[in-house]
Amino acid sequence: MEKIHWNGGAMLAPLPPVLVTCGTMEQPNILTVAWTGICCTHPPMTYISVRPTRHSYNIIRESGVFAINLPTTALVKAVDFCGVRSGRDTDKIKACGLHLVMPENGIVPVLDEAPVSLTCRVTQILPLGSHDMFLAEIIGTDADSRYVDSKGKLNLQQSGLLAYAHGEYFALGRKCGEFGYSVRKKKKPPKGRR
Ligand SMILES: Cc1cc2nc3c(=O)[nH]c(=O)nc-3n(C[C@H](O)[C@H](O)[C@H](O)COP(=O)(O)O)c2cc1C
Repeated sequence: MEKIHWNGGAMLAPLPPVLVTCGTMEQPNILTVAWTGICCTHPPMTYISVRPTRHSYNIIRESGVFAINLPTTALVKAVDFCGVRSGRDTDKIKACGLHLVMPENGIVPVLDEAPVSLTCRVTQILPLGSHDMFLAEIIGTDADSRYVDSKGKLNLQQSGLLAYAHGEYFALGRKCGEFGYSVRKKKKPPKGRR
């Protein structure tokens, strides 16, 4: 395979372009963040990298909390809008017709329209360069009950999950495997049918 080499760049894709909510029910804000991910299982930890010039930056820094709301294809226009307009001069929640609810833990408002919201408490702020990384513990998860089956398993495939790759939004495609399937032993058929 012939390779073209570039200098280092933020080329990892796809990423979830999450809607981050912050502030209070009275004075909330929302922004789009693609520089995010999970970085520890126990305790469950995540991060968002935010430029200090963003209106949300000081809100998150001062409150020490934020929520990550998973985006869906139904929310793609809001995802883009909340990433190109600032809460400094626009009520983005109203402009996008979105709704906030306070989760059971009362930490920070989450997006009612999101299939899953993670409420997070900041544990460290790491200045990295253009962005500061808010490292945070995931304190709570709120899921739309329509995507939780009778066994309590979360099935997000039907929610229309959204991905972001190199400046473009994509609807997640068809399932092509699952964790550990490559090494799973096939079930032996009953003796008579071998
Ligand atoms: C798809 C997408 C991804 C973005 N990812 C980030 C990000 O990871 N970090 C960041 O600081 N800004 C990111 N932005 C830009 C902010 O969302 C944007 O500057 C927003 O207007 C900030 O809102 P605020 O001023 O109300 O906080 C992204 C924008 C888009 C459209």
